[in-house]
Amino acid sequence: MRERSTGCCEAVKVTDDVYWVGAIDWGVRDFHGYETPRGSTYNAYLVLADKVALIDTVKAPFASELLSRVASVIDPEHIDYVISNHAEMDHSGGLPEVIAAVRPEAVFASSMGVKALGQHFGLEGVQAVEDGGTLSLGGRTLAFLETRMLHWPDSMATYLVEEKLLFSNDAFGMHLASSQRYADEIEESLLAWEAAKYYANILLPYSKLVPRLVEKIREAGIEIRTLAPSHGPIWRRDPDKVVGWYMRWASGERARKAVVVYDTMWQSTAKMARAIAEGLAEEGIPTKVMPLRASHRSDVATELLDAGALIVGSPTLNNGIFPTVADLLTYLKGLRPRGLVAAAFGSYGWGGEAVGQVAAELAAMKAELVGDGLKVQYVPDQGALQQCRALGRQVAERLKTAAAARAPE
Ligand code: FEO
Repeated sequence: MRERSTGCCEAVKVTDDVYWVGAIDWGVRDFHGYETPRGSTYNAYLVLADKVALIDTVKAPFASELLSRVASVIDPEHIDYVISNHAEMDHSGGLPEVIAAVRPEAVFASSMGVKALGQHFGLEGVQAVEDGGTLSLGGRTLAFLETRMLHWPDSMATYLVEEKLLFSNDAFGMHLASSQRYADEIEESLLAWEAAKYYANILLPYSKLVPRLVEKIREAGIEIRTLAPSHGPIWRRDPDKVVGWYMRWASGERARKAVVVYDTMWQSTAKMARAIAEGLAEEGIPTKVMPLRASHRSDVATELLDAGALIVGSPTLNNGIFPTVADLLTYLKGLRPRGLVAAAFGSYGWGGEAVGQVAAELAAMKAELVGDGLKVQYVPDQGALQQCRALGRQVAERLKTAAAARAPE
């Protein structure tokens, strides 16, 4: 048996039998198109019982960090089982290196995870666990719960029965690098923003599955004392808080709030955006104006998680939508926001096709459009700016009507 390592990094004790052995990625700034200004963590956990289990691994460049943390507790070769909750490479990229170092008795994944791990890494011999199946560690029991599409088809969670601890993988996570491991050590407003950003940019398309998962957890009699996701902090106190946030976002509840997002070539579309925002403000609608040269698409998606209205402006460039606006619309359409009131606007020189194209994209998101799109040739004069303010007021009225229709009787 090897001596315990005094490598780069130490494990963090979560309970008597569970250690956090993940990695902190302070430098990551992009997660497949989602801007992560505060970095992220790839959480992995060591469960000590007669048999030792490692729950998840980390992104490939961080495998040595994981092994170093494991070695601060036990010889990594003493890991018997590796559980891969999710085959996406931020959790499985380090798996081949970990397997080579640990030589575990068995590696487990969901049936779809087995296939994905085989295709990603050519891994053979990974064993499939069933939804609701269990694995005894001797004195401790792991139970498996499929969480399909939260966030990939193969995703699953693992429950440590005796500790009432749910390793939820992507679900209930957030991209937030921190020296604190627990949510109760971090400012709540920061947690709420990063959890919302994660939900809006990763999980929104699968919102219908969130209440089903929570119901499935209840039906299975799973009580969660500790919620240990694979990104961001661990919820050792009040895990219901983040579950409650998820349920609210999944409900599609929208506030009387508007987001005006645009790009501009010569400030004309910018002037229109400001006038529309003034019209909304006249009607008492809190409005976030987001010029795309200063706002990342993932921040727009986050603001839109609870906003009731989206107003999008684009100049016409070469008979089409300005590239940054097209980028945003493609991204948002994939996230499938529902229940929005929307409008399109923009300045043009001659053809003016962009506004109609923006309106068509908003309609494809099943948004309720106000007008056909407001176009202004060249620079908006006072009359045109009055039209913009009127559009803002119209959107505000529609937003109030939509909110009243949704209000409980
Ligand atoms: Fe954190 Fe779907 O990977």
